[in-house]
Amino acid sequence: MCAIRCIEEALPGMPQHLAVVMDGNGRWAKRRGLPRSAGHEAGVSAAKRLVEYSRRRGIRYLTIFAFSSENMGRPPSEVAFLLNLIPKALNQYCDELLRHDIRVHCVGDRSILSPETQRRVDEVLQETRSGQAMDLVVAFGYGGRWDIVAAARRLMAEAKRGLLEPDALDEALFTARLQLAGLPDPDLLVRTGGERRISNFLLWHIAYAELYFSDVLWPDFDEARLDEALHWYTRRTRRFGLLPDGDHA
Ligand code: IPE
Ligand code: IPE
Ligand code: MG
Repeated sequence: MCAIRCIEEALPGMPQHLAVVMDGNGRWAKRRGLPRSAGHEAGVSAAKRLVEYSRRRGIRYLTIFAFSSENMGRPPSEVAFLLNLIPKALNQYCDELLRHDIRVHCVGDRSILSPETQRRVDEVLQETRSGQAMDLVVAFGYGGRWDIVAAARRLMAEAKRGLLEPDALDEALFTARLQLAGLPDPDLLVRTGGERRISNFLLWHIAYAELYFSDVLWPDFDEARLDEALHWYTRRTRRFGLLPDGDHA
């Protein structure tokens, strides 16, 4: 059923892996005279819509930036609100994810969560682990530099135990020690909220991603906006440092 729907609605040339920096919740709330927390709640609803639209468009991997390592430096009340909201939303959304055959992964430093919340997140990961339609990666307490340093630390420990020769280290092995190990690199990175920057998201993985910036604040990012980004992507020529077809002397 899902496979048929995905194919029916898939556009040709879709990204296999879409990564999204969901920025602009605070400004969305401020414009409405609401507290920032209301913006984050609206952001969760927009994230759920994104998951559903992406699945229907045939996107196989979706990675969403929900909370960065650096966001830990925000006022304690906002940090506490987000550390509660995001795992809670994941938990409440679990049945729908199961129904849509979606597998959830979490990347980032989970030690920022209480043991009880970590356990609830682990349950969602376990329950959805056989999902086949789409892999949803929630980046939470995640930073690109944190990820790279953690991978380097793992590799150094392996070398120290005599399991790895320094000369054997190559890009593939390094990639395999990063948090997104086993998933292809994002093809398209979308950032909402008007800023043209990466803010320490998937630094290693976006080497050749197409970058799409939208001025729309995250809670307002709807299906039509996603389609605009996807259509933009289908018009890109990706060269990966090579020459375009027909340009060989
Ligand atoms: C993105 O929205 C969500 C998180 C970073 C957690 P912001 O909270 O950054 O919203 P703005 O950028 O202040 O509008
Ligand atoms: C990026 O947004 C992080 C997330 C969307 C989770 P930020 O609001 O933290 O980024 P900056 O501070 O504008 O660079
Ligand atoms: Mg922001």
